[in-house]
Amino acid sequence: MKLDVLLGLQWGDEGKGKIVDVLAPKYNVIARFQGGPNAGHTLEFNNIKHVLHTIPSGVFRPDSINIIGNGVVIDPVIFMQEIDELLELKVDLTKNLFISKRTHLILPSHRILDAASEAAKGKTKIGSTLKGIGPTYMDKTGRNGLRVGDIINPGFKEKYDFLTNKHKDLLKQYNFDFDLTEYEENWFKGIELLKKFKLIESEHVINKYLEEGKLILAEGAQGTLLDIDFGSYPFVTSSNTTCAGACTGLGVAPNKIGNIIGIFKAYCTRVGSGPFPTELENEEGETLRKQGHEVGATTGRPRRCGWLDLPALKYAVMLNGVTELTITKADVLTGFETIKVCTHYKLKGEEINYMPFEINEPLEPVLKEFKGWKEDISKINSYEELPIELKDYLKYIENEVKVPIKVISVGPNRSETILK
Ligand code: GDP
Ligand code: IMO
Ligand code: MG
Repeated sequence: MKLDVLLGLQWGDEGKGKIVDVLAPKYNVIARFQGGPNAGHTLEFNNIKHVLHTIPSGVFRPDSINIIGNGVVIDPVIFMQEIDELLELKVDLTKNLFISKRTHLILPSHRILDAASEAAKGKTKIGSTLKGIGPTYMDKTGRNGLRVGDIINPGFKEKYDFLTNKHKDLLKQYNFDFDLTEYEENWFKGIELLKKFKLIESEHVINKYLEEGKLILAEGAQGTLLDIDFGSYPFVTSSNTTCAGACTGLGVAPNKIGNIIGIFKAYCTRVGSGPFPTELENEEGETLRKQGHEVGATTGRPRRCGWLDLPALKYAVMLNGVTELTITKADVLTGFETIKVCTHYKLKGEEINYMPFEINEPLEPVLKEFKGWKEDISKINSYEELPIELKDYLKYIENEVKVPIKVISVGPNRSETILK
């Protein structure tokens, strides 16, 4: 068997959580492969609206096994909150949530370092979610990190103290005030909770499952344009959000990857700083934000909004080898007289049709207009019934990107999904 991958093709928040929840019954296992509590994946069904941060989006399907892979970074405090919130909804995960021993731990001092680093950057800050993601991945690649598998070893507390003291020394240079006491207390409670879960070697478990014919879906976090290598650096996250990240973040060889499902919004959004060529800082942008309820699921920050960016989408499709597309939030475009799509950029007066290295230079979008539609599409459940204008928009995107759109999401609810 091969493992399918689902990932975001834009700057995150494409609706990955919703779509994983929709697809989960087709799979035996859902596995997160990178990122951490910077993610906020929203699921809606039966009057429940729930946001997941570290835990895979298969948890509301009782038959799903959920795995937190080695590529993820985990904050025991946030993990504990997530587990508690799920228990309130009568979802007990002690039996069907497994965590890789190789998963790195976000220490309380990593969060402080994140905040200190952002504060020191001033106007040039990344707009991090301040969850300690960057500093934790830095310690991982710097070979200083603590991993989930370490928590059961007798020397764990010493290792923790050693790394925390190192961070405290670093923080002196930032001249940054902080108090770890309260967070630290909860952090160690979270460590005790982690011990109740099955800690696994995800590479062995996942490859064995594939041999046994189990169906696995790898769930990405963030989006391709936030990838540490290919995103709009330095305004990116600190992991590989692209498909290659599923190989390194779970321990699966490239030739074991099957379908690659790329998700994109019918327009674009971004939270945090950094370039956004199609951004609309006008009434149209405000309408998108209002109609799309574009507020960050993790930070509550308003999301910046703009038109669909085709060169960026094509770039993401290329980097990930996307085999099928899912478009979300098509309903949010309802009521616009015209809908626009960026087909090219102008860089220093020259027209280009690809995402360049110079993403941080002013890129002027060249826009193509489409006729909008007025009818409410959120209750439509077959492709045929969609307005002709939306079908034209979808066909245009498919022709340009050369990958079929197989799923059209027309609302936040599990049921508001059209399978084509
Ligand atoms: P994720 O990080 O990719 O899982 O996405 P988020 O949960 O951060 O953001 C997506 C938001 O859009 C959430 O509030 C979803 O409930 C909502 N959403 C997902 N799909 C649709 C859709 O097709 N239409 C509308 N209107 N909302 C959607
Ligand atoms: P999901 O999985 C949207 C953004 C932050 C910031 C940059 C770096 O819900 O799609 P970090 O905390 O990683 O150091 O922040 O990346 N960012 C996200 N934006 N969705 C996310 O996750 C994000 N995770 C990080 O806003 O600009
Ligand atoms: Mg999100």
